[in-house]
Amino acid sequence: MTDPIQPLRNGNWFRSAVFYEIPVRSFFDSNGDGIGDLPGVTAKLDYLADLGVGAVWLLPYYPSPWRDEGYDVADHYAIHPQLGTIGDLDRLVEEAHRRGIRVLGDYVMNHVSTDHPWFQEARRDRSSPFRSWFLWSDTGTEFSRARVIFRDSEGSNWSWDPVAGQYFFHRFTATQADLNYDTPAVRAEMLNVARFWLGHGLDGYRCDAVPYLVKREGTRCQSLPEVHRYFRELRALLDREFPGTVLVAEANQSIPETVPYFGDGREFQMVMHFPLMPNLFLALGEEDPRRVRHVLRATLPAPGATSWAYFLRNHDEVTGEQLSDDEREMLLWFYGRHPRAVLNGGLRRRLAPMLDGDDRRIEMMTALLLGLPGAPFLYYGDEIGMGDRPDLPDRDGVRTPMQWSDGPTAGFSTAPDDRLVRPLVTEPRFGPAARSVEGETGRPGSLLERCRTLLRVRNARAEAFSSPLFEALETPGAPVLAFVRPGASEHVLCLYNFASTVADVQVRVPAWSAPNPTDLLDRGIALHVVDGALGCRLDPFGFAWVGFPPVPTDPGAATRDPG
Ligand code: GLC
Ligand code: CA
Repeated sequence: MTDPIQPLRNGNWFRSAVFYEIPVRSFFDSNGDGIGDLPGVTAKLDYLADLGVGAVWLLPYYPSPWRDEGYDVADHYAIHPQLGTIGDLDRLVEEAHRRGIRVLGDYVMNHVSTDHPWFQEARRDRSSPFRSWFLWSDTGTEFSRARVIFRDSEGSNWSWDPVAGQYFFHRFTATQADLNYDTPAVRAEMLNVARFWLGHGLDGYRCDAVPYLVKREGTRCQSLPEVHRYFRELRALLDREFPGTVLVAEANQSIPETVPYFGDGREFQMVMHFPLMPNLFLALGEEDPRRVRHVLRATLPAPGATSWAYFLRNHDEVTGEQLSDDEREMLLWFYGRHPRAVLNGGLRRRLAPMLDGDDRRIEMMTALLLGLPGAPFLYYGDEIGMGDRPDLPDRDGVRTPMQWSDGPTAGFSTAPDDRLVRPLVTEPRFGPAARSVEGETGRPGSLLERCRTLLRVRNARAEAFSSPLFEALETPGAPVLAFVRPGASEHVLCLYNFASTVADVQVRVPAWSAPNPTDLLDRGIALHVVDGALGCRLDPFGFAWVGFPPVPTDPGAATRDPG
């Protein structure tokens, strides 16, 4: 049999694929124990392929006490027995590749669960070789400039370990001990971990909590030069041993601290655009897209053969860390009305409830995500507008079982409701009776069908949508974000109305040559070209993708037969 994986690894595949994030435990339960698993993901690959997904990102599937959704890894070389076996993962990867879908794992390299045998050995014995794999202190006062990330649950980055008789360092919860990257054996071991799963056919990793690997007294202990050095080494390993695989950085930092993770093409192929994400929601609340335009202009294009990765929602809170205090307050004012919405200064809410179940805004934001120059990451369930459970602890409320149908357990499992990994959404507007894959499939105008259309049109125009080129256009007086995605054979003009009122917009498209622009989404939008400017009227929160042929610019192209 020909290896289905080779064509999938060619070129810059990551620039055209639509990604889909899956917390495995919450997606689909294949064996009736109430917990989603790897065979469950495999069983739903046809759904993802139909939706137009080109790559999935699996949240951690490793053995873990699940005190932080598997980000507390207890063994990096195995699969949690509740989620399946390595054979199940191999099958998932093979079946995904057969459908043209790539698979990313989650590389959790900053810390391990305190249950991990490495930590258990280290704490018991000062002379153990594993002692130096972690960071210890007699006083717990070092690295005081390192901010506490989970500030609602952790008072300090140091916790006393009575067995060790010392404090140990943890940048996240006190059940996740940070590894010591100054110890060469740690670096070597974690490179081996990366090798291991790529050896099972994964197409790359989303890399967790990237900035914090290395700590230095007197610094904020983030994004230090040694961190970049480690990821350059990892990237070189991928290029050498697993060509075509990719790394995506989770680095929730300011623009100047985030951009260097592209490392001039020698570190991450993709970097999550944390500075942009909360600004998308703010701009929508303000009904004014200018702040989005500013951030995009400041961060585009991504250097060389790299790509920004965009997302609206993920398995964490909507973080306000990259906003000013005033902006954060505004974000919470717009979207944080639920008494339990706010966590660690951000919002533990899903897309649909944040936008009050308003499909116009959900669809517009999704179309924006899909139109931006870079890789879009969808969060499971947002395509059906499913809801959340802010009453659950921590971020569990945005990780409830996927709503496949309005039957028992929302079609997630054959187990009784009280055995599910998490309770189902109960709010009627967002629960399975109102929002489910089965209920929305084939129903004209449903959010799912609208999302499917968006992905189909985008995938059919992969050439323009995967181009790193981008040109933001002025829209004087209109609350409309406008930009062009130039392609060799077709340009796409993207227009988004951020206002709750009708917007008449005029944009002057550079080198406009098109007497006949096309409304790619067939939304019945009348397009007028007057004096080289394109004019149209957008509904409240309306949007349009307009295709038009590029002007031949080089003299050779001008003389080539256009047909
Ligand atoms: C990342 C993950 C988050 C986790 C943390 C610690 O931010 O996205 O879910 O809690 O790292 O691993
Ligand atoms: Ca199961």
